[in-house]
Amino acid sequence: MRHDFLSRRDFLATAGAASLVAGTRRGGFARSTAGPVAIASSNGLNTVARAVEEINSGADALDAVIAGVNLVEEDPNDTTVGYGGLPNAEGTVELDSAVMHGPTGRAGAVASLQGIMYPSKVARLVLERTDHVLLVGMGAQRFAQMHGFAIENLLTDRARAIWVRWRENLSNRDDYLPPHGPDERDLGEAMRRNEDHWGTIHCSAIDLNGNISSVTTTSGLAFKIPGRVGDSPIIGAGLYCDNEVGAAGSTGRGEANLENCCSFLIVERMRMGDSPEAACLYACERIADHTRLARLQNSAGEPAFNVSFYAVNKAGEVGGARIRGTGRMAVADAQGARHIEMACLYE
Ligand code: GLY
Repeated sequence: MRHDFLSRRDFLATAGAASLVAGTRRGGFARSTAGPVAIASSNGLNTVARAVEEINSGADALDAVIAGVNLVEEDPNDTTVGYGGLPNAEGTVELDSAVMHGPTGRAGAVASLQGIMYPSKVARLVLERTDHVLLVGMGAQRFAQMHGFAIENLLTDRARAIWVRWRENLSNRDDYLPPHGPDERDLGEAMRRNEDHWGTIHCSAIDLNGNISSVTTTSGLAFKIPGRVGDSPIIGAGLYCDNEVGAAGSTGRGEANLENCCSFLIVERMRMGDSPEAACLYACERIADHTRLARLQNSAGEPAFNVSFYAVNKAGEVGGARIRGTGRMAVADAQGARHIEMACLYE
């Protein structure tokens, strides 16, 4: 059961409101005086700690968030980002990443990048060393090589073994769809598979000068159709940053976020006065309202998938929300790094 968002927001605005409203759960709360503060998806506890460490050493927020996510990009045990990420349907690791720099308003991104362990660093070079925003595929790889990046085999034995198991059990568990109508329910098994297959890391931070920057980086949907690009490298979807307002980013089913431009939406809601958590819940609500195909819904007509959003405003207030179920996000500030609870639209 879903709760009506507007009345929920009014309710949350009431001092002393209880933490539970029908169908939704309120998340944790963390407040910082702006800078240093960093937020990330739950897999980013080390990431936010590193980002704040960098900021305290004088780093700009963009340097800090990239240094933070590099820890996950190079981690062979995170099968959703960078080295060790699960491959596409043909066994090739394809990476997506975007960065956004609040003070200049500039962005850079790469998509379907093969063989480069740190796509976030290449995204940053797109921002700094081109007049473009997004490079894809072989063009992105050649650009990275031009700047001295080595081509590496990113497919670890662990990820290859998981891919082989998937490939050896193919049936309706891929992303191709036959012709079908809006009421067709018996499709979409791939979309409902293990949530790990949607993993990603997002990190945003505010530095000691009060400047904000963001990065999102991912190997994307596991076993995707080669060339599939998710939300992560798309400015406004996988991340958005406005130095005067705040920043937001996402993990989860990228297709739903691509169709709703949710990171941009969250920042605009914060501009209108929403708290970070309320703005993230608004984006969850928007996705739920726009999920109209039966194959994407559960038996209650709710989205059968998950998307999570993370946000920080200019004042250093942080919050997050996801469509379904309890979850955590990582936060670091002067009090150290920790996980806090996120709100959810459906229990
Ligand atoms: N959110 C990550 C992806 O869909 O690729």
